[in-house]
Amino acid sequence: MFAAGPPSLLIRRARIATMTGAQTSLGDEPLGMIENGAIAVRGQTLQFVGADAELQTRLQALGPLAAQIPSLDAEGKLVSPGLIDCHTHLLFAGDRGHEHALRLRGATYLEIAQAGGGIRSTVRSMRQAKDAQLLSAARERVARLARSGVTTLECKSGYGLSVAQELRALRLLRTLGETSACEIVPTLLGLHAAPPDLDRGLWVKAVVQELIPEVAREQLAHGCDAFLEQGAFDATECRAALNAGAKAGLVGRLHADQLTPGMGAELAAALGCASADHLEHTTPEGAAAMARAGTTAVLLPLAAWFLRDAHAAQARLFLHQGCTVALASNLNPGSQRIESVSMLLAAGCLLSGLTPAQALWALTRGGAAALRKADRGQLAPDLRADLVLWDAQSADHLPYHAGVEHARVVIRAGMIVSDLRDQPALQCS
Ligand code: NIG
Repeated sequence: MFAAGPPSLLIRRARIATMTGAQTSLGDEPLGMIENGAIAVRGQTLQFVGADAELQTRLQALGPLAAQIPSLDAEGKLVSPGLIDCHTHLLFAGDRGHEHALRLRGATYLEIAQAGGGIRSTVRSMRQAKDAQLLSAARERVARLARSGVTTLECKSGYGLSVAQELRALRLLRTLGETSACEIVPTLLGLHAAPPDLDRGLWVKAVVQELIPEVAREQLAHGCDAFLEQGAFDATECRAALNAGAKAGLVGRLHADQLTPGMGAELAAALGCASADHLEHTTPEGAAAMARAGTTAVLLPLAAWFLRDAHAAQARLFLHQGCTVALASNLNPGSQRIESVSMLLAAGCLLSGLTPAQALWALTRGGAAALRKADRGQLAPDLRADLVLWDAQSADHLPYHAGVEHARVVIRAGMIVSDLRDQPALQCS
């Protein structure tokens, strides 16, 4: 029976990847598959996840009412938790395609930044853009990701770089969250680059003394992040911001060891960060420190590919040390402009060495760990009803048939937010 009352939505005839298995360096265990499965949703949460035959028995006990419950037929295909993209910078204005072309002619990311391009170039575009422009561009990006299966999306500030502009970005993210198909999880990234018009030390002081307290007062962010890198911020500066963030109740994140080795993994672990992200140059000792601290390793292989960095972070290193591994897009205007879930899964496999099952786990349960959101990322009663019905039989298909988005129906908090079942072009598994 259904103790809390009848379900509001059913999913039948599904191969359910519950993600209740542990992530290991071995084969397919993390998926926690239920064959011939079914799901019952009540309101915003999952009520039943199990065998279709058992759901049928429970429905029979409801009598004629059962026939009135909306039901989706998964047709024997894969159903997974909604995807959690736990690292993006998707609120931005401007186009940095010329920087991409410069890199392809041999310039490096750091050289372009030192010449006044890079993050500071987006800061200029962002400050000139109207709120409505920023929101409509971000909405399009969010809609594309939502159609591809993303139900939780972390978005960072970091292109404002003044107290007023960073607050503006976070307030816009709040508005975006109120009207978008994904839940937006906002992160304050005050220490992204030195502002064009303020001394670096003064900016760190302003972030710690003015920005973080105001962000906390208005409850504008869930997390606090910093970019530890040559040409960005050093360990002392990052520690000051992340400690102030933690005191204000913000979840710590760190851009660590991306372009050069910088003991970022060790710093993230020492500060008790929920995640350290990038990690292209992290050592086994750094990964071990993260494992001990419970700091999730967020791999961003699309950025390594986009920057033609031969050192994409290797999942094996982190799994071997016992870290939880997450996979995220790092969608941003500079170092990663590819907006595709299937390409992200492919890069997780081809560049970072995840298996398809591990990649899907990393983009669901791994993302939940990076964001410290225990109510999602796996499928079990009482968790959030965030679900994807895929046009694929198994997780293996998703990174294999890349460049095509395979999500058919996306459900967020019990509501269908995307239904592409009538679009034959997408039914191509
Ligand atoms: O995560 N590394 C720092 N921040 C972004 C790049 C942002 C940009 O270039 O605009 C990243 O790769």
